[in-house]
Amino acid sequence: MSEPFDDTHGIEAATWSQLADAALKVRQRAHVPYSEFPVGAAVLTDSHEIFTGCNVEVASIGATVCAERTAIGCAISEGHSKFLALSVVTGVEPPSAPCGICRQVLAEFCEDLPILLVHPAGTYRFTTLDALLPMRFSGLDFLDDSQSKS
Ligand code: THU
Repeated sequence: MSEPFDDTHGIEAATWSQLADAALKVRQRAHVPYSEFPVGAAVLTDSHEIFTGCNVEVASIGATVCAERTAIGCAISEGHSKFLALSVVTGVEPPSAPCGICRQVLAEFCEDLPILLVHPAGTYRFTTLDALLPMRFSGLDFLDDSQSKS
């Protein structure tokens, strides 16, 4: 994808472009017989590697896994749990943001996370996990709770 992404959130434009390309490519592998709504996601690790995921739907709809969680699971499985950026490609305009469950999963691994949302035709917008899920519950709450009991 040759969009003129910005140098923003500490990530170079060329890196944003690589992330968007990776998300666009993996979106082609989405298993979406029910919604016909393919999604591709790509995360950048702190070692500057990219891991990707697509959504995987099953007939028992609640068992469906979103693209973002597939990408995070792929990275975790390969030993990477610190993330610098995420790109998500969907076929709607303006490009969709991650669902609530994915936001909470992202919060498990990131204090904040810059996110690039992209439509294959080139429309895009930037956001952050902080903007999408403010005042969130996280593992830090457990730590604070155990400290207050001691
Ligand atoms: N989906 C994602 O992959 N990511 C999101 O953040 C939103 C929704 C998928 C799940 C389902 O396969 C399809 O999009 C329609 O909800």
